[in-house]
Amino acid sequence: MRIHEHDVIVVGAGGAGLRAAIAAHEEGADVAMVTKLHPVRSHTGAAEGGINAALRDGDDWELHAYDTMKGSDYLGDAPVIETLAQDAPEEVIQLEHWGMPFSREDDGRVSQRPFGGLSFPRTTYAGAETGHHLLHTMYEQVVKRGIKVYDEFYVSRLAVTDHDDPEDRECHGCVAYDIKSGDVVGFRATGGVILATGGDGQVFDHTTNAVANTGDGPAMAYRVGVPAEDMEFVQFHPTTLPSTGVLISEGVRGEGGILYNSKGERFMFEYGYANNAGELASRDVVSRAELTEVNNGRGINDEYVYLDMRHLGDERIYDRLENIIHLAEDFEGVNPVEEPMPVKPGQHYHMGGIETDENGETCISGLYAAGECACASVHGSNRLGGNALPELIVFGARAGHHAAGRDLGEAKVQTGPSAETEAEENLDTPVEPGAIDAANEDVAADGALVEPEEVVEYAVEAERHRIEDLLAHDGTNHAEIREDLQKAMTENVNVFREKEGLKKALEVIRECRERYQDVGVSDPSRTYNTDLIHTIETRNLIDIAETITLGALAREEFRGAHWRREHQERRDDEWLKHTMIAWNDGSPRLYYKPVILEGENKTYEPKIRSY
Ligand code: FUM
Repeated sequence: MRIHEHDVIVVGAGGAGLRAAIAAHEEGADVAMVTKLHPVRSHTGAAEGGINAALRDGDDWELHAYDTMKGSDYLGDAPVIETLAQDAPEEVIQLEHWGMPFSREDDGRVSQRPFGGLSFPRTTYAGAETGHHLLHTMYEQVVKRGIKVYDEFYVSRLAVTDHDDPEDRECHGCVAYDIKSGDVVGFRATGGVILATGGDGQVFDHTTNAVANTGDGPAMAYRVGVPAEDMEFVQFHPTTLPSTGVLISEGVRGEGGILYNSKGERFMFEYGYANNAGELASRDVVSRAELTEVNNGRGINDEYVYLDMRHLGDERIYDRLENIIHLAEDFEGVNPVEEPMPVKPGQHYHMGGIETDENGETCISGLYAAGECACASVHGSNRLGGNALPELIVFGARAGHHAAGRDLGEAKVQTGPSAETEAEENLDTPVEPGAIDAANEDVAADGALVEPEEVVEYAVEAERHRIEDLLAHDGTNHAEIREDLQKAMTENVNVFREKEGLKKALEVIRECRERYQDVGVSDPSRTYNTDLIHTIETRNLIDIAETITLGALAREEFRGAHWRREHQERRDDEWLKHTMIAWNDGSPRLYYKPVILEGENKTYEPKIRSY
């Protein structure tokens, strides 16, 4: 049995993973990254628009925090939001010192541009390929420091003790499938495991996310007992290319790009969707406006609207948005210097994820999460554009430092089932979580398995058996299940949601779970077996889809990205609380915990959110 041992293991090598690894290394830890993709193939590389940080005179962290809280529709936790706003400038300056090629003004200062929902143009960028440069800049640091990278190792199980109470459990490592050799390999972490696996957009069939974004981290954490938080809050970006879902950056609108309907009307103003901010309203607002235009017969081909940037002129476009020309030409056959681009909303980001505190810690000792897979609750019910990249570096760094032993002070955010203040049983909720006929095999839960080596060895053996069984079984193909799941989610759990559709989606998800019991892998090969990888991923997608839909059915209000036909108002009296879903031996349990609105110097009073 192959078991590698390090102080800190980082799972995933996108922005959050790279930053976490560097931070742990700064503390003197022996760090290793274990990643499904080579670091510079990570999906952070597709991030286009930029990094919000209060760097200029006239701006400050308090304003950034206020915009973020308002953008979250008052579902973000103030201590976490304030940490983001306070730490982002220093992290951006650090990137600059590491050589990140930011776009610059003539006087040499790093450029910043307006982004949706911001009261100050504080989005720092590198053309329209900020994420690409961010990845390369940090990967250089990882190489320079000699941090070990196990790339093309797909982590598919966590090695966690099996105490009955998840809050007594400890994480001692993880198990990965070596994609090149077909070996099942153990990783023992003496300090901590940091999940930085990115998004889960493959739950939907129209997404800006890469095929590798399958929610592996959140699904694994959920199955070992870490609650999933605010999963119903999924962001649909307003400008994606209709035929592929490829992102057209908000930077286009930040630079002055305009949205038109089929009648040539600038509908954001014409129909009063956002009379002040127009195209630069928050993403949830713009996505709903676009779909309302289409539903009212003012879309193009009953599907999309136009985004026009021709008036910006060649010089500005080539200087700040050149990448957009290539994306529109390559993926939609449109030259945006000469014609408007067709765009429609597409899944882009998940506000919900693995419950953590502001230090990246989960309720399981030794298990951390950072970046999109985590929910420290920075974004609440809607993320502002340009706030994902600072989240990666700020909370990636914190998780890395903490896992390597630095004391970051006591967290204000409580985690784990004991943070519950309101159980599902007390609510008049339409959703019965119910048993789903899939016992939790990831943790046996009798408290017998406690020695670290034993825990990792047990997990390796269990995963080896699972993989052998999948390879030996001639059963249902994962692709059929995945396709039905994605279709049901896209049809029913999208920008506009209603009870019957959500119930229908839940039915399909549970059918998918049942069909998955018979899943098999037809490709018997041991090297680069994508059939096997996708089969393992599909189970994760099922878990993620179920938590999204359960949370959405239960939340009877309209807040941020969560719109409900039957509930057209934000209801702070009843719903100013986080949705928590915990996996209980195959039966998800729904409960709630309070939102923290008390910041360092003030309490954020929920206000009507308009742009
Ligand atoms: O539109 C964009 O460039 C995306 C940025 C983001 O999601 O923060």
